Amino acid sequence: MSHSNVPVITIDGPTASGKGTVAARVAERLSFHLLDSGALYRLTALQAMRRGVELRDEHGIAKLAEHLQVRFTGHDIFIGSENVAHAIRAEEVGNMASKIAALPAVRQALFALQLGFREAPGLVADGRDMGTVIFPTAKLKVFLTASVEARAERRYKQLIDKGFSANMDDLLADLQARDERDTKRAVAPLVPAADAHILDTSHMSAQDAIEQVLAWYAEVKE
Ligand code: DC
Repeated sequence: MSHSNVPVITIDGPTASGKGTVAARVAERLSFHLLDSGALYRLTALQAMRRGVELRDEHGIAKLAEHLQVRFTGHDIFIGSENVAHAIRAEEVGNMASKIAALPAVRQALFALQLGFREAPGLVADGRDMGTVIFPTAKLKVFLTASVEARAERRYKQLIDKGFSANMDDLLADLQARDERDTKRAVAPLVPAADAHILDTSHMSAQDAIEQVLAWYAEVKE
């Protein structure tokens, strides 16, 4: 099977819309590979923060992205021998990720890396521009969304569960700022693909969202 024939399901949407959970479970159910593209932006952000590369140094940050030595194994994410799966979930890393994601050279540097995840028997890709830019030929495109309040509540629970501290008002403000940046940026802004199925999960359980995506996929795969 050539790469372009490998089926892809893209799941795009704003931060904390539940796409991570839905994408991971759909991939599991279909025995497909998983691409958490947000993790690549978070990893690049973490490297920039650790090495003191500043936001205005677009070229320097793109270089970090280009040379990411990342290995995904199950729930673990390794840079060299260090497991950074926990560290990249911190809010300050997410905020920095959203800022560096607006830099065209950084997006360009991560482009080929993302295409490499398209391997048989199939791929579920989660992010912002999976259906619009990275995998425009995907078999199924889903745009997962939820009200900012529902997303702030989910993110709050997630952070507390992971042992981070969190404040609801700060989270709401953070999410709004991040939405604004992600949707207004000039390159690959967060917009649903013209042929995407929109799924509003404000009042929907993760389980129901997963079943809906699987049902849509069953309709399109021959
Ligand atoms: O999905 P996430 O919260 O882990 O993503 C972190 C940031 O990375 C998000 O604010 C925007 C950016 N991002 C992006 O620009 N394009 C993607 N495909 C995935 C994430």
